[in-house]
Amino acid sequence: MFIMIQRTLVLLKPDAIKRGLIGKIISRFEDAGLKIVGMKMVWVNQEFARKHYEEHLDKEFYEWLEKFITSGPVIAMCLEGVEAISVVRKMVGSTEPGKALPGTIRGDFAHLSTTYANKKGIAVPNLIHASGNEEQAKREIALWFKPEEIHSYKLAYEELVL
Ligand code: CDP
Ligand code: MG
Repeated sequence: MFIMIQRTLVLLKPDAIKRGLIGKIISRFEDAGLKIVGMKMVWVNQEFARKHYEEHLDKEFYEWLEKFITSGPVIAMCLEGVEAISVVRKMVGSTEPGKALPGTIRGDFAHLSTTYANKKGIAVPNLIHASGNEEQAKREIALWFKPEEIHSYKLAYEELVL
């Protein structure tokens, strides 16, 4: 079988930073053996938010989503690993924290429903974004990182392999 090493984009959204969850969330990816090949803190503006969430521009929740993602700095990461796109989505869990399974990031650190949040006129604070598929990952990594901000290096165990 062809083994696919993939790169995916992860954002720790402003609620994750404000709740002091940066370390805990990043640890989960390190513990799973994923490689952080790019990382930075960015406070995005409206124009950038529109580019990142272009697929949602015409959705009824877009305005709330834009307010949410521009409400503070985010941590942007590019993670690399075997089938990293689907593995990371699995670790992140369902969009709606109230439905996300225990053991997932959204399931363990949040609980609100999107209905509850949307009724209050806000996007659901679900801590994290992860690319949904290969096409999204490629587009999002290129949007958030310059080529020289992505680093190819070996993890400790990879350095020991001759
Ligand atoms: O982030 P994910 O790919 O799981 O979900 P999405 O369907 O691509 O939606 C992007 C983001 O919009 C979500 O993560 C939520 O923060 C927000 N959203 C919302 O606030 N209310 C909804 N009804 C749907 C999405
Ligand atoms: Mg999505």
